[in-house]
Amino acid sequence: MDYTASIFVLVSMFAVCTAVTEDVGVNTENTERCNCPWSVQDFSQLQEEIALLKADVGAIKVSLSEEEIQDNEIPLIENVEGFVYATCKPMPNSHLDSDYFQPITGIINMKQNATGGPLYIDIYMYGFRSAFGSLHGFHIHTYGDLKEGCQSTGGHFNPFGKDHGAPGDDNRHVGDLGNVQPDHQGVVNTGMIDNVASLIGENSVIGRAFVIHSGEDDLGLGGFPDSRTTGHAGPRLACCVIGRSEQ
Ligand code: CU
Ligand code: ZN
Repeated sequence: MDYTASIFVLVSMFAVCTAVTEDVGVNTENTERCNCPWSVQDFSQLQEEIALLKADVGAIKVSLSEEEIQDNEIPLIENVEGFVYATCKPMPNSHLDSDYFQPITGIINMKQNATGGPLYIDIYMYGFRSAFGSLHGFHIHTYGDLKEGCQSTGGHFNPFGKDHGAPGDDNRHVGDLGNVQPDHQGVVNTGMIDNVASLIGENSVIGRAFVIHSGEDDLGLGGFPDSRTTGHAGPRLACCVIGRSEQ
C-alpha cells in the first residue's frame, strides 16, 4: 500500500472509530466497546498526527482502486453496526461418568448491540445420542473454569439472587436458557433471543460457561428438591467457555 493509501486508511479508520464511540455513547474511559486497534485515550494524539499527515499530503489526490476501498470497508462496517460478538465451542465433559458420555460438540455464536438490547444466540451442536424427542437443559453457569471439566463451572449464573426458572420468567437466573432438543440425527440447530443474559456490562456472560445437561430442565416446576436451583436437569454432558470474538 502506498503512502497516500495508508493515510486514507488511517483517516477512514479514525473517522469510523470516532463515529462508533459517539453513536453508542461510550464513556471515553471505557475502551471495550470500540474495536479499534488503539485505545480511546490515544484519540487526541492520533487526531494531532492525522492533522499533520493531512497537511503533509496537501493537494495530493487520493486514488484508491475500487477493490482497495472495498477491502478496507469490510472491518469498518462491522464497527459501524456496533455489535459485540462472542463464541463458545462445546466439548464433552471430561469429568463425567462414562455411562452418560455423549460426543457433543459444535459451535454457539452470540451477538448483541454494544448499547444493550436482546442477545442473539445461534446454536449448532451435534453428537447427541439420547432418545429422539429428549430435552436437554441449556444454561450459562457462573465460571469459565474447566479445570475439572464442566464440574468446575459452578451453578447457574445468578447475579441477582433469584430462583431457577424459565427463560420467559421474571424470577429466573440470568443463565436460565431452558432446553435444547436434538433432531433424529442428534443435531441441535436453532436460535434463541434472550432479554436477560448480556455480553456487556458488569453482569456480562463473557468468561462464563455454557453447560448442556443430560436431562430436561423442568424450568423450576418439577417439584424435585433441586427444581428451584438447577431445574433437575441431571449430569453435565458438555460445556464451553464463552469468549469474545471478532464476529
Ligand atoms: Cu446447567
Ligand atoms: Zn437456573
